[in-house]
Amino acid sequence: MDVMKAIAARSSTRGYTAEKLTKEELDALLTAGLQAPTATNRQELHFTVLDGRDPLLFDIQEVMGGRARPEKNFWYDAPTVILISGEADFRWTAVDAGIAVENIALAAESLGLGNVILGCLKAAMDGENRERYAKALRFPEGYTFQIAIAVGHKAAEKEPHGFDREKQVTIL
Ligand SMILES: Cc1cc2nc3c(=O)[nH]c(=O)nc-3n(C[C@H](O)[C@H](O)[C@H](O)COP(=O)(O)O)c2cc1C
Repeated sequence: MDVMKAIAARSSTRGYTAEKLTKEELDALLTAGLQAPTATNRQELHFTVLDGRDPLLFDIQEVMGGRARPEKNFWYDAPTVILISGEADFRWTAVDAGIAVENIALAAESLGLGNVILGCLKAAMDGENRERYAKALRFPEGYTFQIAIAVGHKAAEKEPHGFDREKQVTIL
């Protein structure tokens, strides 16, 4: 799929079928993340793949407590969740993680897979359980959680968001 079409078509998917990703699909998504640019080509990001039934996700959900949509878990029952961690003390880590997660989102869109970027677990990941999660998720030493993305086959549809070009763009 043309990259412009993928950008225009992408939207957040908040409901998934139980169908697993194939190994090829998962490899393609991870490659898209690894191919993202990083400041000074530092490549300070790490990608941790979790099955949607992994007890760690339910553990994080528990620590997160109440949510706006209590009827759904934070990964919307997606079969795969990718957590991106990165060097805590590199100034561009958060930006690089954002670029990598969007690369994955666009790759997923181009493969016909639903996806949603997940930031809502950040407080739980940065809280008193930080060390425990970093160990269980095998983050490299000195890495902290940055962002996550859920991926799977769509069981829910949503139109891409609208925007206000007049308000958000200035061309001098
Ligand atoms: C950094 C970031 C964090 C996000 N965190 C969540 C989240 O935790 N849960 C969720 O359902 N959506 C999350 N989203 C998805 C946004 O809500 C969504 O992108 C936005 O509403 C626009 O809708 P669209 O993606 O369908 O265009 C996040 C998006 C970004 C960029």
